[in-house]
Amino acid sequence: MTDHSLQTRLLHSDYKFDPHTGAVSVPIQQASTFHQQDFDNPGTYDYSRSGNPTRKALEDTIAGLENGTDGFAFASGMAAISTSFMLLSQWDHVVISEDVYGGTFRMINDVLQRFGIDHTFVDMTDLHAVATSIRPNTKLVYIETPSNPTLKITDIRAVSKLAKANDCWTFVDNTFMTPALQRPLELGADLVLHSATKFIAGHSDVVAGLAATHQPDLAERLSFLQNSFGSILGAHDCWLVLRGLKTLHCRLAQSSASAAKIAEELTKHPLIEEVFYPGFSSHPGNSIHSYQSEGAGAILSFRLRDEDAVRQFTNAVEIPVYAVSLGAVESILSYPARMSHASMPKEEREKRGITDGLLRLSVGLEKPEDLIEDFQQALKQIHPYSFLTNRRVNHELT
Ligand SMILES: Cc1ncc(COP(=O)(O)O)c(C=O)c1O
Repeated sequence: MTDHSLQTRLLHSDYKFDPHTGAVSVPIQQASTFHQQDFDNPGTYDYSRSGNPTRKALEDTIAGLENGTDGFAFASGMAAISTSFMLLSQWDHVVISEDVYGGTFRMINDVLQRFGIDHTFVDMTDLHAVATSIRPNTKLVYIETPSNPTLKITDIRAVSKLAKANDCWTFVDNTFMTPALQRPLELGADLVLHSATKFIAGHSDVVAGLAATHQPDLAERLSFLQNSFGSILGAHDCWLVLRGLKTLHCRLAQSSASAAKIAEELTKHPLIEEVFYPGFSSHPGNSIHSYQSEGAGAILSFRLRDEDAVRQFTNAVEIPVYAVSLGAVESILSYPARMSHASMPKEEREKRGITDGLLRLSVGLEKPEDLIEDFQQALKQIHPYSFLTNRRVNHELT
């Protein structure tokens, strides 16, 4: 099946039907343990923490879609990320994107530090900064591209090459793009990670994490860690992720087309100070993104004046859910300062451009014109004065 397009492979994998019954859906194997017929040859499965047939179907599927050899399914994106960080040892050093997801920031700052694993946050778009941050004990360069929530673009191929030259691994969090739009292993990365809670599952009904690699040594070590830490994804949740994957291509295609339209419209509004979308030709990472990805995706961010403006806007907006998360069939409006990046101190957030006026929009499957109209009516509810600072704002309301 590997010579077919990803769009076709999403529907026609080795698991398209159950060889025992012909059922056109992967069976949910809920068993925790497996009878061993033969004392000397116990069989493929013994205990579901170590391996489970439904999980194996999902793990093989993500490995195939990422052009890897081995896949791993975890209880959440953070479980996938933190288990992968356990590949490191005491006194190792990590170079990591400065605007990384807030949960990853918290884990690396507040947990790994206690175990003697040090890190340096860098602007991954600046190759010179990446190169000068690498130390003799650096073992890992950790990328998120597009980054969350300011959608900066990292050159995966260039950073992986630099990492390899310094004997370091490159891990890429590919949550925003999914293998439908970007396949980091093909660009030189060693491990790709996902919060499958997002676009991959796509329906806001499961929390899940995935990893994939094409390196036998990494695969063996990660398999050992997955079994040792035990933060595996349950069989039923694996099935939900597999079902979501079937529509990944068409969901992303429609949501991305709508995101492009909405981003364009938002740039025209005087109360919106800045719109971040990698599909804009003016975006500083646009040419790198076009080279390494097959689309700009369905996430955009935009900056309002301040927290007060955000409060008025989010109270007035009607269609998107105002919630944590992204990548679902329904549009999701998030406020990074209070949600995904609440665990980052305010001064750290502001250094990274995650100001109190920044909102992130994950575009779903609604008609884009309806969303645009909704945003326009909500923008009209923003008062021209900031109640917090009592400052006259230099914009006319439309
Ligand atoms: C880019 C990114 N990586 C990782 C995660 C963590 O995933 P999960 O919430 O499934 O643990 C998130 C969650 O928002 C995310 O946005």
